[in-house]
Amino acid sequence: MLPTLSQRIAQLQPSPTVALNSKAKELAEQGHKIINFSVGEPDFPTPDVIVQAAIKALQAGKTRYGAAGGGLPLRKAIVEKLEKENALTYKPEQIVVGIGAKEILFHLALACFNPGDEVLIPAPYWVSYTEHVVAAGATPIVIPMPTDHKAPRLTAEMVRPYVTARTKGIMITSPSNPGGFVIPPDEMKALGDYLSDKNWWIISDEIYEYMSFDGPSISMATLCPGVRDRFIVVNGFSKAYAMTGWRVGYMAGPKPVADLVRTLQTQSSTSLPPFIEEGALEALRHGKELMAEQMKVLRHRRDLAVSILKQYPELDMLPPNGAFYVYIDLRKVLAKSALYAKDNSLDFSKKLLETYHVAMVPGEAFGTPGFIRLSYAVHDDTLIEGLKRLGDALVEIGAKRTA
Ligand SMILES: Cc1ncc(COP(=O)(O)O)c(C=O)c1O
Repeated sequence: MLPTLSQRIAQLQPSPTVALNSKAKELAEQGHKIINFSVGEPDFPTPDVIVQAAIKALQAGKTRYGAAGGGLPLRKAIVEKLEKENALTYKPEQIVVGIGAKEILFHLALACFNPGDEVLIPAPYWVSYTEHVVAAGATPIVIPMPTDHKAPRLTAEMVRPYVTARTKGIMITSPSNPGGFVIPPDEMKALGDYLSDKNWWIISDEIYEYMSFDGPSISMATLCPGVRDRFIVVNGFSKAYAMTGWRVGYMAGPKPVADLVRTLQTQSSTSLPPFIEEGALEALRHGKELMAEQMKVLRHRRDLAVSILKQYPELDMLPPNGAFYVYIDLRKVLAKSALYAKDNSLDFSKKLLETYHVAMVPGEAFGTPGFIRLSYAVHDDTLIEGLKRLGDALVEIGAKRTA
């Protein structure tokens, strides 16, 4: 008999998006033409100047351990970015650079929360937030999405019923994954005003910051100085500069938090590879201009996806004005179908993959069954073909198609 495992870690769920992506790859290896709408990454290559900067650094011998929490030049460049673009003032010691925003978020949960603490997570949520909180021994408290999907944004009224004496943190994500929506500045400010007198950590995941198509996405800390001393901005390079495989993310926040997150890194991954840091520095110098065209392409694909999905009048959608997702409400169609139990988008997504060879992540993964997430960061032809197959799968279970 084996010794027992960690009870805390055994409660964690493996990432459903990673699992679905693996299943799609397996079917593709068997020769099926799979359309993969499940991945949370842009299909663009990393801009060449960024790649060249890393190659040059490798050739110059930057192949040893780096500085825990990120080298000073990179942290200074992040301070400048936050000052210039977000009107937020930090010192380099308040910045920690880690192996993707995911590692930063994981270490933040370990650094900020204790067993017994409750952390508010609005649904639909990114798959890892709840698991990070569980790994920290704290309790995720999911704030359900309002039934009126036309107003999915988080408001003080939605938060209030879930607050207890044990509440210790709240996760904010705008633009959001999987929702693909942006909290408009006036609503963000109202939420920030409500949170200003709460003694909680506010963790704001702003990784899709540049992908806001119908108006600006502004950080709560920029709008509400009252939250700043408990506010932690998380951002990363994966989405903004098409650098998912480089694994670079960072936090900016109160120094005691940054110190603990850095300590965790010294005891786990040690540091970002120094040649990767050089690529990241180059991304901060030129990446935004270099990616401007790609942002327009994403906006065009959003419009294309929405125009096709509108052919199915029973599908509802959250306003898809940010990131590169459309979060589609299948509940009306599923309710008509004898094949699926109420709101069971998980079984529908299995059938969609196995029979129609389209991979999409079901809402169960994000705390809202009955939905399915489309990632439209794919070529137009793929988008058109994949949505045709999705449409066929929906029509098969009784959905109306108008064109
Ligand atoms: C909302 C959100 N936060 C964080 C991450 C993690 O990004 P990274 O690649 O920097 O680890 C993702 C990736 O899908 C995401 O969607």
